Amino acid sequence: MTSYRYPTPPSSQITSKEDFLNRRSFVAGMAGASGLAAAPSFIGSSAIAQERKAQKLKTTSSSFSTVEKPNSYEDVTTYNNFYEFGTGKSDPAENAHTLTTRPWTIDVGGMVNNPGKLDIEKLLTKFTLEERIYRFRCVEAWSMVIPWVGIPLADVLKQYDVQGSAKYVAFETLLRPEEMPGQSSTFSSLPWPYVEGLRMDEAMHPLTILAVGLYGEVLPNQNGAPVRLVVPWKYGFKSIKSIVSMKLTEDEPPTSWNKAGPREYGFYSNVNPTVNHPRWSQATERRIGAGIFAKRIETLMFNGYADQVASLYEGMDLRKFY
Ligand code: MTE
Repeated sequence: MTSYRYPTPPSSQITSKEDFLNRRSFVAGMAGASGLAAAPSFIGSSAIAQERKAQKLKTTSSSFSTVEKPNSYEDVTTYNNFYEFGTGKSDPAENAHTLTTRPWTIDVGGMVNNPGKLDIEKLLTKFTLEERIYRFRCVEAWSMVIPWVGIPLADVLKQYDVQGSAKYVAFETLLRPEEMPGQSSTFSSLPWPYVEGLRMDEAMHPLTILAVGLYGEVLPNQNGAPVRLVVPWKYGFKSIKSIVSMKLTEDEPPTSWNKAGPREYGFYSNVNPTVNHPRWSQATERRIGAGIFAKRIETLMFNGYADQVASLYEGMDLRKFY
């Protein structure tokens, strides 16, 4: 993975969502008045079109939310990792409009008594959608605070009657090179489709959610539409996007970054300031949007969620199981 290739703009240039949207409608109005298509230069026009029709979601608040101030909508939706659409941080916002997210189902199978297809419409309408404001820590040593809209993964899996002997959940992203240009790029650094996995207790932990939105609206494509995983105490790459399959297994499933670089990325990938990445320190992080002169912040064990999750790893050597 690349790091620090895209410097953060100074805080004077960081915009709240309201300002961002107002500025957009202003630019759109100006463009309309002059007969031009609205295409402000700071973001791809396709991402704007997609955001304009974003569906609002009805959410409830959650006691799991951090009180830290969320990053702006602009930060969250224009600084992304989604290698199916390119390896640069702005590539997903510029390119992910090619992805069709309806119809969409997730195959739920493997060691369950009640396998089936989970339709995204059901996920959006039959479950309680919670706003969960979580810290998000990328393995590249930057972080954000993101107001997700999600459903505990445990609530979803319960519907499929998981067998007692199931030990892991294996997740898979859509494989559709015609809509995901990175999947046919010869420079691609990852094997496709993107895959991830969680141990059963991690999957069933109340902090683990399937996210279907952010900032109270359906997920923009670049953030993993229509449904992605969010596991806040692990490095961001565990949070697999645009999921089409969840399979309950007995054996530890393969994970994309571990396949790409086994020496650098393990299965567990818990945020751990005492275990450095072989090529850089994990002791501190740069908060996106804080400005280039802002002090780096100390990275917390399990990304600050130690009280809730440390017990899952009791007795494990977290240097070995990194
Ligand atoms: N999921 C898929 N399918 N493809 C990806 O390239 N990147 C991962 C993760 N999930 C990735 C993915 C990485 S490296 C990170 S840091 C997070 O998504 C980024 O999520 P965000 O762009 O919403 O911040």
